[in-house]
Amino acid sequence: MTIKEALRKASAELKQNNIPSSDLDSEVLLEYVLKRHGFDRAKILAYPETEINVQDQNKYLELIKRRAQREPVAYITKDKEFFGISFYTDKRVLIPRPETEILVEEALKTTKKKAETQARIKIIDIGTGSGCIAVTIQKAIQEKFPQLKDKVEIHASDISLDALTVAETNLKKHGLQEKIKLHQSDLFKNIKGKFDLICANLPYLSKKDYSLVDQEIKNYEPKKSLKGGDEGVDLYLKLFDQIPDHIKKSAQLLIEIHPYQKKALVKAAKEKFKHLKDHTVEDLNHQERVLAMQFQ
Ligand SMILES: C[S@@+](CC[C@H](N)C(=O)[O-])C[C@H]1O[C@@H](n2cnc3c(N)ncnc32)[C@H](O)[C@@H]1O
Repeated sequence: MTIKEALRKASAELKQNNIPSSDLDSEVLLEYVLKRHGFDRAKILAYPETEINVQDQNKYLELIKRRAQREPVAYITKDKEFFGISFYTDKRVLIPRPETEILVEEALKTTKKKAETQARIKIIDIGTGSGCIAVTIQKAIQEKFPQLKDKVEIHASDISLDALTVAETNLKKHGLQEKIKLHQSDLFKNIKGKFDLICANLPYLSKKDYSLVDQEIKNYEPKKSLKGGDEGVDLYLKLFDQIPDHIKKSAQLLIEIHPYQKKALVKAAKEKFKHLKDHTVEDLNHQERVLAMQFQ
């Protein structure tokens, strides 16, 4: 079987199973199988007449079968790109989403601003999952803002030991074991100290939203990464209760939310913190996705 024939067969099988990105997924999975022979996607498309050996054909068709059953590509290839960086991903963690990149951009803006007046900046990523937020912030600082390197201290936590094992794999993958400190903790329970910037993409799907998610998500991604109680805001409200003991002066909180949760969250926070400045940042679909709160 040639590359062209394999792609055609795979794409037809995925289409038949209503996988919307059938062509793209067929190519990505073939790239995954053939990469040990030096084939990337560009080469796959440039050499369609190349013969694939029987072992690789079988492996490929096996992966296509898994995809046809709606297993996410990122769990099959154990890889997901986030902010241009490759992350090891498996079913123990949520697959990093593009909308979370907005939170990272906002975190970098805040860090740069704080660095103008502060000698040290302490950051924590709560509910780190794959570690994508903490790793991306640390890598961006090293590569784009090296002047901040010695000022910033990054921590990352998760309640799930499984998730932390994946985060640790990603820290090692990017040589950051010494740069990011991992903690197993229910929110701030096992965490000591005060922070300048708290980032959190905690589970925020309401009961109703979770009932409507795609089978691909429901059947494969960890429920504990997604479900946030009846209205989806339980964990953020609990976090607000714990925050007073963990913030330095003018600290900033950045949380990823569903746009309709903003009103209730801002109201709850304002009842707790008298002097609070808040703003939201929209994602690419013009949805208010990140809620930023600065405590006085
Ligand atoms: C939506 S996922 C986000 C993962 C990652 N930060 C990202 O953006 O892709 C939420 C993460 O929060 C963790 N989590 C859930 N409840 C938690 C709690 N009470 N304390 C700390 N982490 C929690 C889950 O295990 C999961 O890894």
